[in-house]
Order: sequence, then structure tokens, then C-alpha cells
Amino acid sequence: MQGPRRKVKVMVTMTMVFIFIVVEVSRNAGKGDGNKNKLLIPSKRFWAKDAPSDAFWNRQQQQLNYINNRNLEYLNSTIKKVPDWFNDTVSLDTCEPDFRVTTQIKDYNSLPDRFKDFLLYMRCRSYPIVVDQPNICKDQPFLLLAIKSLVPHFDRRQAIRESWGKAGRLANKTVVTLFLLGNAATEDYFPDLSQMFNLECSMHGDIIQWDFRDTFFNLTIKEVLFLEWLTTRCSEASYIFKGDDDVFVNTVRIIDFLSNLSHAKAKELFVGDVITNAGPHRNKKVKYFIPESVYIGAYPAYAGGGGYLFSGQLAKKIYNASKQVALYPIDDVYTGMCLMKLGLAPEKHKGFRTFDIEDKYRDNACAYNSLMLVHPRSPQHMIKIWAWLNDPALNCQ
Ligand SMILES: *[C@@H]1O[C@H](CO)[C@@H](O)[C@H](O)[C@H]1NC(C)=O
Ligand SMILES: *[C@@H]1O[C@H](CO)[C@@H](O)[C@H](O)[C@H]1NC(C)=O
Ligand SMILES: *[C@@H]1O[C@H](CO)[C@@H](O)[C@H](O)[C@H]1NC(C)=O
Ligand SMILES: *[C@@H]1O[C@H](CO)[C@@H](O)[C@H](O)[C@H]1NC(C)=O
Ligand SMILES: *[C@@H]1O[C@H](CO)[C@@H](O)[C@H](O)[C@H]1NC(C)=O
Ligand SMILES: *[C@@H]1O[C@H](CO)[C@@H](O)[C@H](O)[C@H]1NC(C)=O
Repeated sequence: MQGPRRKVKVMVTMTMVFIFIVVEVSRNAGKGDGNKNKLLIPSKRFWAKDAPSDAFWNRQQQQLNYINNRNLEYLNSTIKKVPDWFNDTVSLDTCEPDFRVTTQIKDYNSLPDRFKDFLLYMRCRSYPIVVDQPNICKDQPFLLLAIKSLVPHFDRRQAIRESWGKAGRLANKTVVTLFLLGNAATEDYFPDLSQMFNLECSMHGDIIQWDFRDTFFNLTIKEVLFLEWLTTRCSEASYIFKGDDDVFVNTVRIIDFLSNLSHAKAKELFVGDVITNAGPHRNKKVKYFIPESVYIGAYPAYAGGGGYLFSGQLAKKIYNASKQVALYPIDDVYTGMCLMKLGLAPEKHKGFRTFDIEDKYRDNACAYNSLMLVHPRSPQHMIKIWAWLNDPALNCQ
């Protein structure tokens, strides 16, 4: 009697383990590529997941996954021992430069300086806020416009305030505008703009600034710090637009779109100009170049960082997920990774034109009427387009 029963028990356990593995592998493999419902049979042995990746970011992510999935240890009788390298006491928030990276990345010394800087500080996520606007969301904005800017871009910010980013009531909704900045580091040879900048901050009260070098690779820091700020200072905002300071946004059209959303859709809204099937650029001359020693694999679907729109409810989840995703030097790809972690993907909306519209329509007011975002636009052009759209005589029928 003992024999068969034990056999059954063992078989049931083994079947459960097998099902767990298939589900887990297919769940991970299906994310981001629209194959969510397809059962994917892994081509490699599941245990291969334990092998450290050759690429630094991927290894960091494996460690984070391990740390955040300790409960999987209940399988420890069947899964082989966790490899030693996983145990490299990862601390998410270490702001001392991590000089171990100089030996952990084989071509570290030949990488461009921006990579060296990024990799040394990749584990640091807390920088002091030096200009805050703790009460800017007191009126529970329907739409928060959060615009990534740089200290010297005074004219862009002013053009946005005078046009599409005019804060207050718009189409019977409350709009709040906020500019997100890092510092103007002396090592980046900025002229001393501090007095002009201080004056701007006190005049407009719409700037937040953290003390980190405002470089392209640090935009991911800006994203994470902004998400943290949102959950503490602006958790009541219904929707958030986040974008660059060289875009034109048809704010009225966005409010119209948001007002018409169904409740279900509104909760997990994330729309923009979505890029799918992309991966890292391997050409050293491209701004987006990422070496193989840093990242291997495809990118998840992501919305181009020129501008995208998401719900306040989803923002909290993205912030949560970000704690489990290693910082990646390209901010919009990073946000796509966080969405993937949540099992979500951004949705493409054809009104977001981060690659501009045809030349012949650029000065046609009606071309902007049905769009949500166009990139790039100069400050002068922003003001001009906004005036066209607000002209009562405009007739685009
Ligand atoms: C897994 O390992 C832990 C200690 O590392 C042990 O306490 C636990 O009993 C093990 N679980 C199983 C199912 O073997
Ligand atoms: C991880 O490190 C801890 C303490 O340093 C040690 O007790 C443990 O055995 C290590 N685990 C593995 C899997 O190496
Ligand atoms: C404006 O919004 C308020 C509530 O937010 C509503 O009661 C009012 O009817 C709206 N007015 C118009 C003109 O839509
Ligand atoms: C990001 O900012 C930190 C803090 O100012 C700085 O140490 C680091 O070099 C910056 N990283 C990049 C890639 O610019
Ligand atoms: C939203 O609804 C209003 C009134 O129902 C309609 O006029 C408008 O075209 C709709 N907008 C969009 C973007 O669907
Ligand atoms: C964020 O994570 C914490 C802890 O894991 C959880 O308690 C909380 O509900 C999460 N919040 C959201 C919005 O997912």
C-alpha cells in the first residue's frame, strides 16, 4: 500500500513543479511581445536561468530577481543550489561609487565616459531635492504636465507656460504644469545661471530640481525620482503627461481623449508613440549605443520619451515595479521594462507624433487639431501653433 501511494505523491509533486516551470517560463517569455496567451515551450533547460549573464545589466537584474523572489526557495530541494555570484549582497540604494564594476565589466576601461559614470552610480537612486513644490497638486489636478527640462532652457519653459502648458482651468479641468530638472553641474561647463534660475523658480513656482548631473544617461534617475515624488506629493492626479521640453502638446485634445475614457481603460492607461521589436544600438556613434558587455536581449515595448500619457493609479504601480528593475541608461526603455515587470505593455496612439508630421503640414493649423503631440517644435513654433488652435475662427471641417 505504501509504495503506490508514495509514487502518486511524487508524481503529483513532479507534475506541479513541471507546470510551475512551464507557466513561469511562458509568462516571462510572452511579456511585451503581444504573445501573452501563447504557451511557449522553452528551448533551453529551465535551469539555464541560473547561469549568470555575460552582460552587466542582465546580471544585476538576475540578482534583483533572486532577491525579490526568495519565496521561490521552497523549491530548493529540486533546483540546484543558488550560485555564489547571486549572493553578492546587492543593495539597491548605495550612493558610493561602486568600483567593482571596473573589473566586473570586461571592456570597462574602453567604454565612453558616460558609461563609466552610469555604471559607477547605477545602484544609487536617492538624490536630494533642492527645489520642491510640495503644494502644487493641492487642487487635485485632472492632468499633471511633467516636462523634462534643463536649467539653461529658459525659453522653452516660458514658451510652454504661455502655450500648451498654461496651468489652471482648461476645458473645465484642472491642469498643473511642472518642470523636472537636475543640476547644472560645473563639471559640465555650464555658465553660472543660478541667479536667473532662482528668480525663475520663485516667479513661477513650477520647477522641481534634484541634485544630480542632468545628463542623458541620468534621465532614468529623473524618472525614478519623479515617480517617487508623484506618490508622495501628487498622488491625487488623475492623469500624467510626461515629456520633453521641445514638443508641442495639444492639451485640449488630450483632455478630450481622457474625458471620454471608460473607467476600466482609465485605470491602467499608458499611451504614447510605442516602439516594439527594438533592441540596443550597437553602433558606437549613435546616441543610444549600448555595448554587449552592458546589455543583451531585445527591448520590451516602450513609449518614446518625447511624451506619453498615463494614469495616476498606474504611476504608483510603476514606481513599485521600478524598485525591482535595475536602472537602465535609456529612460523610456527603462519605463517599458517596469511596465513589463507589471505584465503590462504601453498602447500605441497615432496622435503621438514623436517623429514629426510631413513637412507640408507643419504650418497647417488643422494638422494639429486632431494630434496629441508633435516633436520637435521650437519655442516660437509652440506659441504660434497654440494661437492657431485657439483662434475662434479656426474651422477644420
Ligand atoms: C529550503 O532551504 C531552507 C534553508 O535554506 C530550509 O529552511 C527549507 O526547509 C528548505 N525547503 C525545502 C522545501 O527543502
Ligand atoms: C550568502 O551569504 C550568506 C552570508 O554571507 C551565507 O550565509 C550564505 O550561505 C550565502 N548563500 C549562498 C547561496 O552562497
Ligand atoms: C465643469 O465641471 C464641473 C464638475 O467638475 C461640472 O459640474 C460642470 O457642469 C462642468 N461645466 C461644463 C461647462 O462642462
Ligand atoms: C548622474 O548623476 C550623478 C550625481 O550627480 C553623477 O555622479 C553621475 O556621474 C551622473 N551619471 C551620468 C551618467 O552622468
Ligand atoms: C469625446 O466625446 C465628445 C462628446 O461625447 C465628442 O464630441 C468627442 O469627439 C470625443 N472625443 C474623442 C477623442 O473621442
Ligand atoms: C506597492 O508594493 C507594496 C509592497 O510590495 C504593496 O504593499 C503596495 O500595495 C503596492 N502598491 C501598488 C499601488 O501596487
